[in-house]
Amino acid sequence: MNADKIKELVSQMTLEEKASLCSGADFWHTKEIKRLGIPSVMVSDGPHGLRKQDQKADHLGVNDSIKAVCFPAGCATAASFNRDLIKEMGETLGNECQAEKVSVILGPAVNIKRSPLCGRNFEYYSEDPLVATEMAGSLIEGIQNKNIGTSIKHFLANNQETRRMSSSSDIDERTLREIYLAAFEGAVCRQKPWTVMCSYNKINGTYAAENKTYLTDVLRKEWGFDGFVMSDWGAVNDRVRDLEAGLNLEMPSSGGINDKLITEAVRSGRLDEQILDRSCEEMLNIIYRAVENQDENAVFDLEKDHEKARKIAEETIVLLKNEDILPLKPGCKIAFIGKYAKKPRYQGGGSSHINSFKVTSALEAAGSLPGLVYAQGYDDDRDEVLPALEEEAVRAAGSSDVAVIFAGLPDAFESEGFDRSHMRMPDCQNQLIEKIAAVQPNTVVVLHNGSPVEMPWISKVKGVIEAYLSGQAVGAAVTDILFGRVNPSAKLPETFPLKLEDNPSYLTYPGEGDRTVYTEGVYVGYRYYDKKKMDVLFPFGHGLSYTSFSYSDLTVDKEELDDTDTLKVSVKVTNTGKLEGKEIIQLYVGASSGKIQRPVKELRDFAKISLKPGETKEVTFTLGRRAFAYWNTTLKNWHVLTDDYDIMIGASSRDIRCQKSVRVNSTVQIPVIYTLDTTFGDVMENEKAAAAIHKFMEGSELFAAPEEKGESDVAAEAISAEMQEAMMRYMPLRGMISFSGGAMTLDKLEELILEWNRDNINR
Ligand code: BGC
Repeated sequence: MNADKIKELVSQMTLEEKASLCSGADFWHTKEIKRLGIPSVMVSDGPHGLRKQDQKADHLGVNDSIKAVCFPAGCATAASFNRDLIKEMGETLGNECQAEKVSVILGPAVNIKRSPLCGRNFEYYSEDPLVATEMAGSLIEGIQNKNIGTSIKHFLANNQETRRMSSSSDIDERTLREIYLAAFEGAVCRQKPWTVMCSYNKINGTYAAENKTYLTDVLRKEWGFDGFVMSDWGAVNDRVRDLEAGLNLEMPSSGGINDKLITEAVRSGRLDEQILDRSCEEMLNIIYRAVENQDENAVFDLEKDHEKARKIAEETIVLLKNEDILPLKPGCKIAFIGKYAKKPRYQGGGSSHINSFKVTSALEAAGSLPGLVYAQGYDDDRDEVLPALEEEAVRAAGSSDVAVIFAGLPDAFESEGFDRSHMRMPDCQNQLIEKIAAVQPNTVVVLHNGSPVEMPWISKVKGVIEAYLSGQAVGAAVTDILFGRVNPSAKLPETFPLKLEDNPSYLTYPGEGDRTVYTEGVYVGYRYYDKKKMDVLFPFGHGLSYTSFSYSDLTVDKEELDDTDTLKVSVKVTNTGKLEGKEIIQLYVGASSGKIQRPVKELRDFAKISLKPGETKEVTFTLGRRAFAYWNTTLKNWHVLTDDYDIMIGASSRDIRCQKSVRVNSTVQIPVIYTLDTTFGDVMENEKAAAAIHKFMEGSELFAAPEEKGESDVAAEAISAEMQEAMMRYMPLRGMISFSGGAMTLDKLEELILEWNRDNINR
């Protein structure tokens, strides 16, 4: 339905009808307005599978959702760094939604993994906003290609589960722009999700649901969002204020209570009816887009989609460590140890939980391999050593050639709704790994978790595979990697610190009472570890392959450019090993001068390519202004400082293979406003002002060198030339009145300042 018809439709709606459209009919549907033929549409979680619940099911009841396919969760799909693959996953999900008459899938979830402790990290993509927004964008594109809407969530700064419905995320403007908003920005601007879900929390004291700055000024006015905003389930605070701020749909239903508040507010004049009209138009636009594009013939095949889930999982599993142990050699006696070998942890608890129609474990996928034995080793319902299970596992490991331990975080350690209290795996699992490594030098650990864990046993095992929560086919994918049928090609979308205390948010997470201050600013993840030159367990972007790659011939199409130009960066990558494999090439940019406090480097693009043994391919990236920019709070805009920038191509954030420097010139003048408090050092950067100052200060003692002043050595030692210079540099202009020997008066100084400011503004 076109915009005019939608306007016309809204003009026919009564006030009550319009207000009623602004909240759900139940947990999962928008309201129907029969009189005008306005249909109801269904929304469903999301994000990594279809959790379609029947009407009566409660919010968290997972058993009532239909049997579906659980694809790899966000933590894992991000590790694939494969945009096309995630787009395909989106198309598969979109098709499932079409077949099930679901119009909007509630995801992707792009919140930044600020702390390893966030209970919901498994649903989120990365500590890096570019990875988050790119992977989310690919999923959105895929889903929406099938004419199904998405709901990018949770907008904004919802980075913890502790007090998620009341806590305020207190974040400075630059950090919000560069990290937390940036995770949404790319996907919202490029892939245009049909809907956005606002989060529960407050941002700098104002609930996300009633935050006009982000819901309207940034989202709609700056980023051009033209869909509708829905609340997270129960996130509405003050319904009228929320509507004014830009929140269209309250979910789930308020049983009519909040709709009534809207009608009363219009009648009493508190709410402008035009705001309500616009809100309805925005919603109807999407509702009709969904209804008019329903594919009545859509069908899906669970088994086929399971195979897709497997193909995706193969690219989400990261080989972290391999001391010549993997792939496992044919014919060796193998012990699969750990409950997760038989019953993998492949998804997390909460609203994203899928009622999987089947799950493939590694044990099942390995089949009746001669010489393969299994021992459970531990249980995951309690963190408790079970001696009989442990002894059996140690025996099995000791009498095999290789032990593969399947370990990780149980649901009780990691879930929606609460945060982890530490970064450790269960003690019983750590102890089991130590005991097995003591009897079996050929030990490999396969991990199932959505966020980093400490690995106290790392030096005692030969191999580690991070299988994340890679969906219901994870066992098959892990087995293919263990036996070399698939060459691992994923890399970490986050840093694994050595210990929790190293994480930049450690001192302030999860805040005090209802307030969490993000004191680390933009230094999230590798941005912090790099700046502090800290050792980490595994760096951002790290991941091994069974083949090797070399990088060469880094070229840039210009050595100097303006911030309005683009820069083409090319590099050649060669497969120098014996197996076909995929490599993720990472492009980082760092400013050299340090004039602005910035991370050492930031990921600005990445590419994943497949190479046959001996094959070379050239990869080209195009960088625009944003690749060099930081958020300038004076301009309230992105700004590129004139500077030299390092273009770094890496196989990980700590494995930079080639580097080049380019000069980028700013075309934007930042207005400088001089005041009596402006320092001499700052004023000296303005030629005209510098000359004027010199004139007045010529006779001043303060400017004279010690010998000119005829000072003794002792006096010269007391105030060195460096100190004198620094005193001048940091002295405010008003100091001239005291130190110019009467040459400068307050009136004169104010007149000069006025003149410099006028020049600056007119420039
Ligand atoms: C979650 C959302 C989810 C919604 C509906 C909320 O508790 O935060 O991510 O989409 O429930 O299940």
